Amino acid sequence: MLTHNLDNIQYFVISNQSIMARLIFLKLAGLLLVSFFLGSCTDHQSNSSFALSYPDYFPDPIYQSTRNPITKEGFELGRALFHDPILSTDSTISCESCHAQGHAFADHNVALSEGIAGRRGVRNSPAIFNAAWQPHFMWDGGINHIEVMPVAPITNDVEMGETMNNVVKKLNRNQAYKRRFKQVFNVDVIDDQKLLFALAQYMSMLVSATSKYDQVRQNKAIFTDIEQQGYEVFVQKCSSCHKEPLFTDYTFRNTGLPAKPDETGRHHVTLEAEDMHKFRMPSLRNVALTYPYMHDGRFKTLREVLNHYSDNMQDYSNLDPLFKLDNGKLGIPLSENEKTALESFLRTLSDYSFTSNPIFSE
Ligand code: HEC
Ligand code: HEC
Repeated sequence: MLTHNLDNIQYFVISNQSIMARLIFLKLAGLLLVSFFLGSCTDHQSNSSFALSYPDYFPDPIYQSTRNPITKEGFELGRALFHDPILSTDSTISCESCHAQGHAFADHNVALSEGIAGRRGVRNSPAIFNAAWQPHFMWDGGINHIEVMPVAPITNDVEMGETMNNVVKKLNRNQAYKRRFKQVFNVDVIDDQKLLFALAQYMSMLVSATSKYDQVRQNKAIFTDIEQQGYEVFVQKCSSCHKEPLFTDYTFRNTGLPAKPDETGRHHVTLEAEDMHKFRMPSLRNVALTYPYMHDGRFKTLREVLNHYSDNMQDYSNLDPLFKLDNGKLGIPLSENEKTALESFLRTLSDYSFTSNPIFSE
């Protein structure tokens, strides 16, 4: 009875810390299927629905929250959970510890974030916004759905070091949370699926689409000369990868960064040789606020990133073809003026209405 293939979703989480790719999610996926089936008849009349709003030049979001309709109360519950260290084993670390709103939900200027007991992982905390458009998560795409995404940080021993069972136990001991889950999902007992649903409601509402760039697109502002010049360089040299309006196409590319031991990128998930050292292309929205840069935070400034593209690229057999020039050189030629102009343009992607919007903070 419970083998329905609901929306053809197959969830997976491939741990970023293990050497071997492993599927840890089969049990929970089973639970999710069961609960979807049971939950489909309930009607939450008392909650006010909440819709994703975005400009008309955005594509349709990928996350269709039909099983998990977003409501104001569900979003607020997700927001509370996102900011609550109760999700970590010793109640010291919340999601917000590594994903801070003022930095577009990236970490506060650190290359490798600090988890429980001062432990650090090997990758830079990505910004979180426009997640409803993301086909996969993590630098290697090891997670394929926003509704399972939080399992990785909660259970990772260098991040929150908890188990899903124990988190749910702690939440069930908390009367305020019990009341809120009852109101939002009409359940007497909180389970892992509802916890994940609430977090998905919050994260999918984090839409960043009110930067100066957006105002220019909507004819509400104009670029300065240097920003305009930077935009033109960007369109010519960067936007075939960092595609407007999301400023990424979410594909995996080898960008010629010198490799670190044990970090194989996308290969970790697919085990295909052609995926060695490929990483998921990040959005450049808010990029001036999300330093340091690249999957391991190796570059402190935008200028260092641009210097990498123009001068410091390392060759690989699967280096992206866009970086192999006709004259045999590697990278993207950029003059000093072009770099300065590009930086000015990239700063127009900072969305301060988003990073200071009180609706997203607890
Ligand atoms: C100790 C720091 C830390 C904590 C705590 C943390 N994260 Fe993260 N988060 C990271 C890092 C590092 C990555 C990238 C990991 C990778 O690519 O392997 C990440 C990735 C993500 C992503 C994927 C972003 C993308 O663009 O691919 C989302 C979404 C996310 N975290 C949400 C959460 C949520 C929800 C919580 C709380 C339940 C949380 N994180 C707690 C550090 C943290
Ligand atoms: C072949 C596709 C491709 C092209 C062309 C490209 N990028 Fe990237 N970019 C990527 C990928 C993939 C990453 C992530 C690399 C990593 O972390 O290992 C990245 C990362 C970045 C980052 C770091 C963002 C962060 O949050 O860490 C910046 C900034 C950036 N690119 C700017 C540019 C600019 C400016 C140009 C044009 C001069 C450009 N890129 C051209 C694919 C590309």
